[in-house]
Amino acid sequence: MLNFTKNSDLSVSETLSLLRRAHSIANHDVTVLHELDGMQMASLFYEPSTRTRLSFASAMNALGGSTIGFESSSSASVAKGESLADTIRVASQYADLIVLRHPDISAPDIALANSSVPLINAGNGADLHPTQTLADLMTIYENKKTLSGLHLTFAGDLKYGRTVHSLVKELLRFGNNTFTFVSPDELRIPNELRTKLTNTNTLFYEEQSIQTGIHSADIIYLTRIQTERFPQSLIKKSPTELTQVENFKPTDLDANTLLMHPLPRGTELPREFDVLPQAKYFDQVKFGKYARMALIELLISKHTPNTK
Ligand code: CP
Repeated sequence: MLNFTKNSDLSVSETLSLLRRAHSIANHDVTVLHELDGMQMASLFYEPSTRTRLSFASAMNALGGSTIGFESSSSASVAKGESLADTIRVASQYADLIVLRHPDISAPDIALANSSVPLINAGNGADLHPTQTLADLMTIYENKKTLSGLHLTFAGDLKYGRTVHSLVKELLRFGNNTFTFVSPDELRIPNELRTKLTNTNTLFYEEQSIQTGIHSADIIYLTRIQTERFPQSLIKKSPTELTQVENFKPTDLDANTLLMHPLPRGTELPREFDVLPQAKYFDQVKFGKYARMALIELLISKHTPNTK
């Protein structure tokens, strides 16, 4: 059974083939309606979500399947003390696929140990967000036609921003990418990621102002300050104070630089950027649905279900 709790669950060539499949779906080159007729996806969201939850539901509908689940832990039996392990075992009785978002980093491992159907990690705490990475990869690939030899500048909350951790780890597998990380000291990339960058002889810089990483960047990837994951000491500082992009203006962007953001946004990305052709964050949202359709197809195709 194939699961998707981290991007390395797929090989580089499988990932490229998934992106090609997502491209074909997006361009209506293939027919997918009715492909998953009668199949159900359990969407278990213990944390708030707009894009990820809606795009999974929309993807499942477009494939002919349907969705069951809950969108907050307060509306599920976890509010009565039910364990994640039991919830996953229950969802496995009804669904052909489980999509899980959870605040605990260890949640995907617990879920894997208790699921009898394919599992997708839709974000686990400050750790990973592998399907956002698929949306990000598709956005980069559609625009740059490559996933290597690029310079990416990441700015904002690089400590708690799981989309950054996932995307950087994944781009290391494609090789020859350079990274600039812009953040205040308190929100620098985790040591584990720094060690991975060092051990793979990757060229990377850690800076305090986005101005350093703007002009040589193929991609500028901004993130929101994740106050919900902050320790009390950091909550005293304002998001604007922590973002390090205060002087970043639309006119700073070179014509060929993609401006990306996983959304939702905060003060780091004013709406004046939205009209720029370089602004790709709503394309990330759109491509997220097609990448998730291709992923759901793949996981279901690799699974031989037991009779329920
Ligand atoms: N990008 C993203 O994960 O957004 P949501 O939290 O709204 O799903």
